[in-house]
Amino acid sequence: MTIVYEDRDDEAPSDIPVRRIKFTINGQKKIAEVEPRLLLSHLIRQGLELTGTHMGCDTTNCGACTVLVDGRPVKSCTMLAVQADGRKIETVEGLATASELHPLQEGFKEEHGLQCGFCTPGMMMAAKALLDANPDPSEEDVRWALSGNLCRCTGYQNIVKSVLWAADKLREAQA
Ligand code: FES
Ligand code: FES
Repeated sequence: MTIVYEDRDDEAPSDIPVRRIKFTINGQKKIAEVEPRLLLSHLIRQGLELTGTHMGCDTTNCGACTVLVDGRPVKSCTMLAVQADGRKIETVEGLATASELHPLQEGFKEEHGLQCGFCTPGMMMAAKALLDANPDPSEEDVRWALSGNLCRCTGYQNIVKSVLWAADKLREAQA
């Protein structure tokens, strides 16, 4: 894996420490050599070219960069890539299969849960963590689970409806 960094003119290439990490992303096993300062979000977007994980703030505020690490939602701009060593990462690209959308993706479509779509990958991953843990959430549960994710377009109402739509669909599929 190759990641190109800014040259700050103050470090010889041999001075830059590199760590080798192993992880799984969307079911695929990977090995990467990363600088200890590299953020997980940059590994995902630049190293792995999975650009569905968005960067809205870089300061742990917006939640657009949310991915799942060992099933738990994490703002990937807040975690170092080296901390992903040995872990299982899921991004929005892993939701759909080759032939079918994930019920969350269908729900956002059916209930008009997005406008510009910038926040949507992070919303879906936070919602996936909720539905994996609680298949029958209340509206309040959904609002709480998404409270770390900001949307500047929709006013949240339709996002909440989308997640509840997906919860119904997933429960029907398992009935
Ligand atoms: S880009 Fe990570 S929280 Fe905003
Ligand atoms: S749909 Fe535009 S920021 Fe959420």
